Formats: sequence, structure tokens, C-alpha cells
Amino acid sequence: MTKQPFGKTAAGETVDLYTLANSSGVEVSIATYGGTVTSLKTQDRAGRIADVVLGFNDLDGYVKATFYAGALVGRYANRIAKGRFALNGVEYTLAVNNGANSLHGGLKGFDKAVWAARELPGGDPALELTYVSQDGEEGYPGKLTVTVVYTLTRFNELRIDYAAETSKDTVLNLTNHSYFNLAGEGNADAMDHVLRVNADRFTPVDAGLIPTSELRPVEGTPFDFRSPMAIGARIGQADEQLERGCGYDHNFVVNGKMGTLRDAARAVDPKSGRVLEVLTTEPGIQLYAANFLDGTAIGKSGKPYQRRSAFCLETQRFPDSPNHPDFPTSVLRAGQKFASTTVFQFSAA
Ligand code: BGC
Repeated sequence: MTKQPFGKTAAGETVDLYTLANSSGVEVSIATYGGTVTSLKTQDRAGRIADVVLGFNDLDGYVKATFYAGALVGRYANRIAKGRFALNGVEYTLAVNNGANSLHGGLKGFDKAVWAARELPGGDPALELTYVSQDGEEGYPGKLTVTVVYTLTRFNELRIDYAAETSKDTVLNLTNHSYFNLAGEGNADAMDHVLRVNADRFTPVDAGLIPTSELRPVEGTPFDFRSPMAIGARIGQADEQLERGCGYDHNFVVNGKMGTLRDAARAVDPKSGRVLEVLTTEPGIQLYAANFLDGTAIGKSGKPYQRRSAFCLETQRFPDSPNHPDFPTSVLRAGQKFASTTVFQFSAA
């Protein structure tokens, strides 16, 4: 593991960039700003290396960008309707930053925090990041201590272990917001990637992308990715859900038991043969087809990040869970320990 300076925030905090490498040619860089995965290099079927995540060459790029590229997202990833929820009979109000709703933790979410970093001893390179979110920060109750360990394993996995504890009952949803293009970042279109999602159901949304509470079978809809299918094959269909999301921007209900690490999704770039497999202990996974990228952000290799030039697979609690008693709970009680794991495994076929 190597460490280099990555600049200073406007508040004068020092930001570092750690690079983890394994013996089979996978290399990942992580900035302490937002715990952001800034680069992820993997081999194609001919052994050629490409950086498969969107991002920027310097801190300024991340400070200015508004699309959470590669970042750790919290305290509540995804949306909370109208920025309101009740817990233990108390109403909490959050900043509204996405139409009428609160998105990705509010105005200054975990993606904009500088995390404390520590290299963990042992076999595979592992970086531990810690952030303490104060009681009342962005409107959320409880002082929350979050620890995220990124491990690059010898099996070409980027393993992300999340842990948290709170001083008061709170709500919590943590994810990593990497944008993947397995042909290499900067390629203009990622919709030819072939995707499989291990989900029989998804959570349809209203016009503001808030779940309606229904768990709808994917059967017979453009959300059926149980057999591999190009992401773009049905994205333009006349479908109310796709219209509401401007494409895929939906949470899928991962089959199998929440809390057990299980298959969630697999994406293949047919040209390069690069494969990404996603495993998670979380109940949900958001497929976001980068519908709102518009070419204004210029990425690491000088190319504009176009609409749908990447996709995100954000493992998570369901969006707006604090307002849906039937969804798996996102409440973390004082004294409880939160733990979840997501694995991004890379190979070539
Ligand atoms: C959301 C999108 C949003 C994107 C970037 C995704 O997780 O679902 O609606 O545009 O993050 O903020």
C-alpha cells in the first residue's frame, strides 16, 4: 500500500490518497475525502489494464462534482421523502436537496467528509477509514461512529466492510457510489454491458423517485434482469417506471436472506470481457444508469462523462425505509452494532 498527498479541503484539512495493489494486477486508489474510490484498474481477457471507475485526477474535481463519483454515501444513502421521518415518536427534519426530498445524506454527507485512515496489518492490503458524524449533523439524531474497511483480496475482490455505532437511536444506510464502465472510464456508452440482477422484485417509485411501498415482481417488466440482458436493451421502452427514473434508477430486492453475503449482480462488458460481480449482505441494490450525467464533467482521461456512460450498483437498505414500516429496518439503536459487507469482484471472460 502506498500513500500520497491528494490536496487540502477549503477548510484546510489534509486529504491523502492510498493505493492498494495485489499480485494479479488489480489496483485501487482511495481518497480520504469521502472515502472515495478514485481509480480501479483491472485486466481484460487479453491482460490489458483499464481504469473501470469514473473519477477525477485531483481533489478539486471531487469537490466540484455533484454526482457522488466513487464516494461513501451516508448517513442515509438514497432518498428520504420530503426530508422527514419519525423515530421514537420524534419528527426529524433533514435538508431537502433533490426536488422535494433529501438525497444521499443531505447538504454535507459522508461523501464530503475527510475520513481518518489507518492501514491494517495482515495479509491482503486493507485500509480502515473512520468518520464520526455528530449528533444532529444534517438533522440526524445520535453521534454515529462509522468505520469502513476496504480490502483488496488475492481473489481480485474489493471487499467493503461497514460498521457503525450510535449514541442515540438513528437511521442509517451506507453505500459506495462507484460508477463503472468495464470498457474503461471515459468510454461514451455503458449500455451495452450485459447485466444480471439476482432479484425477483423491485421497489417501484412515484414521480419523485420515492418507493410506493410495493414490492413488484420483475416478471414481464423491463426490470427483469434474472437472465443476462444488455442494460440498454429495454431502457427506452414506454414504461411508467423507466419514465419516472429517466431510465433505470431503481432499487431491486436482492433474493436470499439479508445479512448473508450472497450474489446480487453480475455485469460483463462483451468487448473487453471484463466482469464485475457484486455480493452483499444488504437487502437491496440500486441500479442507476447514470441518466443524469450530461457531459459537463470532464474525467480523468480528459473525456466528458456522458449520459449513461457508466452504471452504479449501490448496495443498500431500501430508499426511504424510515417512512416504510414494511421495509427491512434502517434503524440503528443505541448500543447496537451495525455491520454490512459488499464485495466487488473483478475477472475477465
Ligand atoms: C440516485 C440518482 C442520483 C445519483 C447521483 C443515485 O444513487 O439514485 O437519482 O442522480 O445517485 O446523485
